[in-house]
Amino acid sequence: MFNSDKISNCKFAQLHISINKALGSISEYDIVISRNFSGLSAKIADIGLAGKKVCIICDANIKNFYIHEVKKSLSGASCKVYTHIIQPGEKNKIFASVEKIYKTLVYNNFERSDFIAALGGGVTGDISGFAAATYMRGIRFIQLPTTLLSMVDSSIGGKTGVDFLSFKNLIGAFHMPALVYTNIETLNTLDRRNFLSGMGEVIKHALIKSNRYYDFIENNVDNIIKKDFETLLNLVYISNTIKKSIVEKDPDEKSCRAFLNLGHTIGHALERESVITASDETALLHGECVGLGCISALYLSNLYSLRLNENSHSRHLLDIARLKRILESFFLPIKFKGIDINDILTSCLKDKKNSEGRVGFVLLKNIGSPFLCHDISYDEMKGAIETIYDYNEK
Ligand SMILES: NC(=O)c1ccc[n+]([C@@H]2O[C@H](COP(=O)([O-])OP(=O)(O)OC[C@H]3O[C@@H](n4cnc5c(N)ncnc54)[C@H](O)[C@@H]3O)[C@@H](O)[C@H]2O)c1
Repeated sequence: MFNSDKISNCKFAQLHISINKALGSISEYDIVISRNFSGLSAKIADIGLAGKKVCIICDANIKNFYIHEVKKSLSGASCKVYTHIIQPGEKNKIFASVEKIYKTLVYNNFERSDFIAALGGGVTGDISGFAAATYMRGIRFIQLPTTLLSMVDSSIGGKTGVDFLSFKNLIGAFHMPALVYTNIETLNTLDRRNFLSGMGEVIKHALIKSNRYYDFIENNVDNIIKKDFETLLNLVYISNTIKKSIVEKDPDEKSCRAFLNLGHTIGHALERESVITASDETALLHGECVGLGCISALYLSNLYSLRLNENSHSRHLLDIARLKRILESFFLPIKFKGIDINDILTSCLKDKKNSEGRVGFVLLKNIGSPFLCHDISYDEMKGAIETIYDYNEK
């Protein structure tokens, strides 16, 4: 699982994902982790997309950075290249953005054999993937992630979708990419806050899967923050390996894939309320909310363990102070303000992970041992939100 020794000093890494889908069909794709786009056109030829029409979808912030390079690579594979620019930010992860993509595809006569290239962060990937999943009942798409969050997490596993009535990812589809091609050097143009937000998902991967990875993250704070290439290559590779192992076992989230939702019950509610109430600049970012949600999840894990083992001396409590120290070392928030706790509670009650009216939480027995719990009371949930609420707010 933990391959840090194996790939340090490498300039390139590759993983292969193989997903068994319904009716016995298999979806397979490579994840290439590189430091440029130079290998992209060969990969496009490898997967049989040379000569097809491709629509590059990216947001207005990054169009000036990488679109030219990516266009060149795709043209190098004899593709006929079109571009479609979306408005950036979570507020634009809505169906209206997908409709505009459909129009570009229709006006340019895209057929079922043509494809989409999602160039950008998780918002671009989720919107573009959903457009690909639904246009003509599904065309192929490739992911070219350019944020840490999208490199380590959202580009892999085929979850696509948009928010609806501000509820996170309420409309969506599973649709596997044909290729994930990560150019780590694109992170050099990403601002620090958006870069470090990705650490929320990285820390989550360690919490659900590997104590050693948790140590690695804690011991490499400076190298991660200064975007050292080899450290990031290791980080993306390890996180991708973790996500691959889970998604291959449970592509449709019927069992263990749900563990990837650690920190997301309260995290998604926080993100929703923050996007509604705060300005574009001050709204909490997805990874920041996941980090906060992980603190609440550890608090609930300890509460649950105490409840189950009231009289036992063998009960094990998770180190919440350590998690907070790690989050703070990456300048991630450990408290929030400006959102009403009751609004977050109401949002949690509408979460996708709920079952028969009970809110679903991923909790931990230990680091690396997650479980799904629908046995958390309203008051316990409120307590978990209060632990991350900033009572010093003026
Ligand atoms: N599908 C999944 O499995 C999955 C998993 C986790 C998160 N997500 C989703 O991912 C989204 C968050 O993704 P994100 O954190 O990447 O945010 P994002 O896509 O909004 O990107 C963050 C910002 O960085 C800019 N940007 C992106 N790459 C850049 C670069 N290289 N240089 C300069 N600027 C750049 C973007 O324009 C944007 O303003 C959320 O909507 C979340 O729900 C999806």
